[in-house]
Amino acid sequence: PKPVQIAELRRMREAGEKIACLTCYDASFALVEDRAGVDVVLIGDSMGMVIHGGNTTTPVSVADIVYHSKCVAPFLKRAFLIADLPFLSYATLERALDASQRAMQEGGAKMVKLEGGREQTSIVEYLAVRGVPVCAHLGLRPQFVHKMGAMKVQGRDEAAAEEMLQDARMLVDAGADMLLLECVPSELGKRITQESRVPVIGIGAGHDVDGQILVLHDILNISPMVTIGRKPRFVKNYMTGGADIEAAIRAYVQEVKSGAYPAPEHCF
Ligand code: KIV
Ligand code: NA
Repeated sequence: PKPVQIAELRRMREAGEKIACLTCYDASFALVEDRAGVDVVLIGDSMGMVIHGGNTTTPVSVADIVYHSKCVAPFLKRAFLIADLPFLSYATLERALDASQRAMQEGGAKMVKLEGGREQTSIVEYLAVRGVPVCAHLGLRPQFVHKMGAMKVQGRDEAAAEEMLQDARMLVDAGADMLLLECVPSELGKRITQESRVPVIGIGAGHDVDGQILVLHDILNISPMVTIGRKPRFVKNYMTGGADIEAAIRAYVQEVKSGAYPAPEHCF
């Protein structure tokens, strides 16, 4: 299969073909996800929860991201690999460049993802002009957990929605090649997607975005979050059709492609 690149993701957006994304942390799942047709694989700092067993993403280090990227990258024949820049690893231009260099050169990532709005435009531009593709993660930003307290839907009122729309515009103008929206009302997901020139991936951002992403362990119904009963609204268990993990991932990909996922009960 031909490796997915940014140009292909843009083509999919333009053609209205939904982009199926999923997190991954190791070689075995990399093989299965790639074979099951996942378009974009994310080395998520959600590893802080589903791999390391913590309550937040903030203890995850650049070394952790590089380690798991190295486990995954060699096994992706087709899927596009994005790596999260972890908490505080992009607090300065220098650190952002260093973390990105490690994620790409050592880890094999093709793009890095960072959380934040307009305050990150200088970082995004600094990376983009040096050939580092960036995905900007807006809406609910789990790295802000200690500042925020509760994790809740973002951009609910018109002022907050307008601010997020402007953030999205500024980040794309600064050179972001992809946007990710977490936990925003479906209507805002739609507005940002309509206005954007780059693919917009959603998680709890409704149906009218260019693609969906979920955490691997959530769709397999084995993540600590799911297991202790704090299942986020957007989570869907794909293990109900049988006991085969590849079939579960394939079902997720197909439902993203057909638009069957997300259903209204997964949206805000
Ligand atoms: O870390 C992660 O898994 C993520 C996705 C949930 C978007 O950032
Ligand atoms: Na993340």
